[in-house]
Amino acid sequence: MTDGTAAQVPPDDLSGFDPFSPAQRGTHHEVMAQFRSRCPVAKVASGMVVLSCYQDVRAALSDRRLLNSHASRAPGVLVPKEDRLMFFEYDAPEHTALRRLMLDLLSAKQAARQIPFIRTTSRELFGMLVKAGGGDVVNQLSVPLSGRMMMRLAGFPTEDAPQWREWIRDHAVSGFAFTNRNDRGVGYAECYPDVLAYIDEHVAMRAARMDRPDDVLTRVVEARINGQPLTPTQKRMIMFSVVSAGANTLTNFISNTVLSVARERRLLDMLRADPTLVPVAVEESLRRDAPSMYITRVCQHQTEIAGTTIQAGEKLLLGLASANRDESVYPHAEEFRLDRAQQPPHLAFGWGAHLCLGAPLTRQVGTTMLETLIDLVDTIELEPGKVPVPYLSVQGNGLDELRVRVRGRSGLTRGLMPRLYDE
Ligand code: HEM
Repeated sequence: MTDGTAAQVPPDDLSGFDPFSPAQRGTHHEVMAQFRSRCPVAKVASGMVVLSCYQDVRAALSDRRLLNSHASRAPGVLVPKEDRLMFFEYDAPEHTALRRLMLDLLSAKQAARQIPFIRTTSRELFGMLVKAGGGDVVNQLSVPLSGRMMMRLAGFPTEDAPQWREWIRDHAVSGFAFTNRNDRGVGYAECYPDVLAYIDEHVAMRAARMDRPDDVLTRVVEARINGQPLTPTQKRMIMFSVVSAGANTLTNFISNTVLSVARERRLLDMLRADPTLVPVAVEESLRRDAPSMYITRVCQHQTEIAGTTIQAGEKLLLGLASANRDESVYPHAEEFRLDRAQQPPHLAFGWGAHLCLGAPLTRQVGTTMLETLIDLVDTIELEPGKVPVPYLSVQGNGLDELRVRVRGRSGLTRGLMPRLYDE
């Protein structure tokens, strides 16, 4: 925690930091390390207050004086309610009631029920990589695994996963997520009429069905708050939020994890020797390579945060990836280690009232995916001459391409391959 004497004006080379600019993406870790050591609470030129140390970020995430509505938009951008299609754009009490609707569907117990699906899908996808001797992990494993998972959870047809990927990517890359506008207009109705029509149509189809599976669509159709059905905006918000909050982060998390294993041979050896380390590796991947580099909050009234006065309306950038690499909490923070059990929990899923609803499912996907890798893969390494291509988004930390060479475990490559596909 900073002590109130922290410099509030960052040095010149940091004051120009703009979290909404694609320019900062490639150097985010280095820049945030500078903030941690030179100015842990910093008011930067873009109008944001940057928090970079673990204790400050965690305290801010638990601080009820900080709000979420409009927080994820660039400074000065206010959006009407029908344009707030993410859970984390809502505040209590509405947020609490909506969140409660999803808690049990997204619990660890429910996530464990997805193990057969995750295992079968991972075996199919790894099986194809093994058979081909390698390939692109992002497009042949991470994207299809997370896409199918999210469609299944939501209740949308599996074959619509690529369409959703395009929509979500457009949000991230076009800047709409920050500005509420793109080259098609302003607000959802002008920018994404096809997304809204898709969700409305699926909600209506589900409402007309008598036999309803237990997924997000059914929850949305059947939910009542104070005896009333959800409003059209609330229904759209939950459907959009769950798929979009999950798809990219899950994709990036899978890619980041496989990249770590492909880069460091010792990890696969350690995990194979002691499979109880698999959940530890999942947490370590989330810590070191947080898929969401930061999140934002807005200050409701003039407030003191970490010794610095924040004015009403000012926005805070909470550095999740930075907190996770805070050396005072995680010694050798840049190393991927499997012996961090005694250290505090990472902040990759946020903390407090908006803690990621998809955390149990993400952990389950990561664990089962890694167990499958251990089971099927003998060696995995980066394809010589191919540098992993970073993911194109301002705030996301992941990959667009990860080319690897893969050798299957001997019993599997000699004639047992069909088993990979027909479980
Ligand atoms: C590695 C994977 C993931 C990461 C790193 C991640 C990260 C996060 C973070 C940092 C937040 C907090 C946002 C805030 O406080 O403003 C969040 C919220 C949320 N996440 Fe995730 N997420 C992941 C996967 C998922 C998945 C798979 C789902 C869907 C099943 C999901 C659904 C949500 C939802 C609905 C919220 C909003 C919760 C609320 O505002 O109450 N996430 N996530």
